[in-house]
Amino acid sequence: MTSVGIDAMEIWTGKLVLDLPNTFAPVKGEDPEKYTKGLGLHTSSFPDVYEDIVTMGANAAKQLMDRKGLTPADIGRIDVATESAFDNSKPVSTYIAGCLEQVYDGDFRHANKGERKFACIAGTQSLDDAYNWIKAGRNRGRAALVIATDTALYERGDPGEATQGAGAVAMLIDEDPDLVELSTEQGYGSMDETDFLKPNQQFPSVDGKRSMQVYLARMREALEDYESVAGRTHPDLFEYIPFHTPFPGMVRKAALLGFRHMTRDTDIEDDLESEIGRQPREADFETWDDYEEAIRGYMDELKTTEQYRDWYGRVIEPTLDISSRVGNWYTGSVHIARLSALIAAADEGKDMTGKQLLVGSYGSGAQAEIHAETVQETWLDEIEAVDVDDQLAARTEISFDDYELIHDVHNHEKEIEVEEFTQPEAEFVFTGWGRMNERRYEYVE
Ligand code: HMG
Repeated sequence: MTSVGIDAMEIWTGKLVLDLPNTFAPVKGEDPEKYTKGLGLHTSSFPDVYEDIVTMGANAAKQLMDRKGLTPADIGRIDVATESAFDNSKPVSTYIAGCLEQVYDGDFRHANKGERKFACIAGTQSLDDAYNWIKAGRNRGRAALVIATDTALYERGDPGEATQGAGAVAMLIDEDPDLVELSTEQGYGSMDETDFLKPNQQFPSVDGKRSMQVYLARMREALEDYESVAGRTHPDLFEYIPFHTPFPGMVRKAALLGFRHMTRDTDIEDDLESEIGRQPREADFETWDDYEEAIRGYMDELKTTEQYRDWYGRVIEPTLDISSRVGNWYTGSVHIARLSALIAAADEGKDMTGKQLLVGSYGSGAQAEIHAETVQETWLDEIEAVDVDDQLAARTEISFDDYELIHDVHNHEKEIEVEEFTQPEAEFVFTGWGRMNERRYEYVE
């Protein structure tokens, strides 16, 4: 059986950075700790004037192709996952391929290109498409380029404004991958929901609190569905559990729910019995509401236990570092959670070869998906080659006034001229519109 998975990944962050507790919160009249402690966010990335989903995606992809020594002939498929597209017909992957063709010999003429849409889960769905294409033997020895790229902006004044972010993740999907192998087993939780959507509008209509409930409900269903094919999960089986991270506080809730589910009828539930009792069982309650209330009470106690806190610190916390510094990258978000965990493992000198990750993806509207990944022998070389800290440190800090301008620059309804904040170097940039209203790009040395 061919092993298929992620061979390499690269990121490209928007080049501007907004300090949430120190710059954003004071103007909003909010307690900075709402950001650092409540949402778990410190800074967020924003695109400069000449950046957008195409430039960020193309720049991440170029870094990946350069590092792996690839040419267009090595790529049989380019899938872009985004919920920030500006064209209802021509996919962002064609724009990105056009950019890359400016700098490489050859072209992507024989590569299948597409665009995947299902809110944030589209990034993982694109991985799946690539996986299936290779497993079906249709790839002719070529790899797939999957790019998750988003500018996650909310309407000014929307509560979601606190969780914005912008960046791209490029991933190479191939046979005998160098980073992680994906499991064949998957679980889904998917229902028609109206919690976060963009009906032909740039900024989302959001029912924030409900979106969090829907996230948890679909994630639980996906976990149950995953277990129905892969067998029971247990906290000790997984070195890290990267979740889709709209903001770290959301993952805090998902992790607690996941831990309770995974520990039911296990040695861990037995160990905790004397401290917090056994988990409530539905059969012992007359109504669903009573049962839910009992579960909430149990979880409030569970999160204070040493077993839970230790597990959370080892398995979940390391997945949140990048997210807490860049905000929500929508389709790329779960993929930077995986990267964050593997960087932490490298920093700690952990031997990750053969270790398992359980990956929980999510997209509003709404669908969750869970699969496992097995870390490959060459993982450390791959992770050491990614320059996350350098990129994040190189961002230019913006004031609140600058933030207001940059939000307007990227607002499709507004036309304003603003000087760029940074100087582009060795990267793709947006240069303006062509005669058919297409967006145009150039590589600057
Ligand atoms: P809000 O009303 O601004 O914030 O909305 P809040 O008052 O609920 O506070 C947030 C947390 O900070 C709370 O924690 C507060 O208690 C805490 P919780 O009670 O939930 O654990 N807090 C404090 N903690 C310490 N010190 C303080 C303090 N003050 C408050 N002083 C909300 C927050 C997330 C609803 C909003 O930002 C929003 O609408 N965001 C957008 C929607 C979203 O991110 N939903 C997440 C699930 S859906 C999803 O993940 C999909 C998505 O990525 C899109 C896609 O799939 O395409 C969004």
